[in-house]
Amino acid sequence: MIVCLCNRVSDRDIRQVVQVHGVRDFEVLKDMTRAASCCGCCHDCAREVFDAACATQPHESAQTT
Ligand code: FES
Repeated sequence: MIVCLCNRVSDRDIRQVVQVHGVRDFEVLKDMTRAASCCGCCHDCAREVFDAACATQPHESAQTT
């Protein structure tokens, strides 16, 4: 499912950033994927997918790159 139409970011893309890159900061997610960085219409949905993805991960191993 495409979450961010402006930048063609899917829920899968968001989950991958959390799972593979260990991102736990929504601002970092925005920088990496550009989700919610244009019109902002997708912000709430992107945040919801991001939070759900974070909740499925073991413990915080915050990575900012
Ligand atoms: S739909 Fe995501 S920034 Fe516009």
